[in-house]
Amino acid sequence: MRFDVLTLFPGIFSGYMGESVLAKAIDRGLIDVRLHDIRDWTTDKHHTVDDRPFGGGPGMVLKVEPVVECVEAVRRQDDEPGHLVMLTPQGRQLNQAMVEQLASRRRILLLCGRYEGFDERIRTILEPDEISLGDYILNGGEVAAMAVIESVIRLVPGVLGDEDSSAGDSFSGPDRLLEFAQYTRPREYRGHVVPEVLVSGDHQAVDRWREENRRQRTRQRRADLVE
Ligand SMILES: C[S@@+](CC[C@H](N)C(=O)[O-])C[C@H]1O[C@@H](n2cnc3c(N)ncnc32)[C@H](O)[C@@H]1O
Repeated sequence: MRFDVLTLFPGIFSGYMGESVLAKAIDRGLIDVRLHDIRDWTTDKHHTVDDRPFGGGPGMVLKVEPVVECVEAVRRQDDEPGHLVMLTPQGRQLNQAMVEQLASRRRILLLCGRYEGFDERIRTILEPDEISLGDYILNGGEVAAMAVIESVIRLVPGVLGDEDSSAGDSFSGPDRLLEFAQYTRPREYRGHVVPEVLVSGDHQAVDRWREENRRQRTRQRRADLVE
């Protein structure tokens, strides 16, 4: 699976791509991440990517020409033009069902904004899938792009080992409930004891306890998911 990240700050990704699950997946050829500096598609001598908003007001707006031309050129780099995602607080809020749909794509382009955001014509020309991380404002789309990559690659076959399997995670599976409570050694810490059933060796009883625990937890913490 290929990701193309279109950003003004490609350097933000260098540490992220060199560590842990993503680094291993890249090494093993399961995931390909390519970084593109939007500034490379400017044509003026100052490499201008932003300008003042028409109508006045604070901040700067990302210019339409370099962004559109960058997206079009990057798309042409592969036979598969890819699914274009624009990271924006005004998009659909990312959830696990959307992550599952994204994971079925062969190629995803992630367009990161900065400053006051995008010239509106970038949306009307490119018609991207607009995705938000949540109802709060980040400085740029890079952290949101990393969240998309991170959540999607967990679902790519072979990326996670069995021990990290995503199948039982919260929001996954047919009912999309929260996962049950987890414990590891020691069995007792400061008077807090692991539920007896989990160390009983009775697998059916463990399964029953976990099922009840995840339902109760979801009702308590996220009643919206039960509905
Ligand atoms: C400071 S924000 C611009 C916010 C814009 N003025 C608005 O109110 O909608 C700059 C960039 O950060 C990214 N960004 C900020 N918050 C985000 C969020 N919640 N989800 C995804 N991307 C976000 C977007 O790419 C956005 O273009």
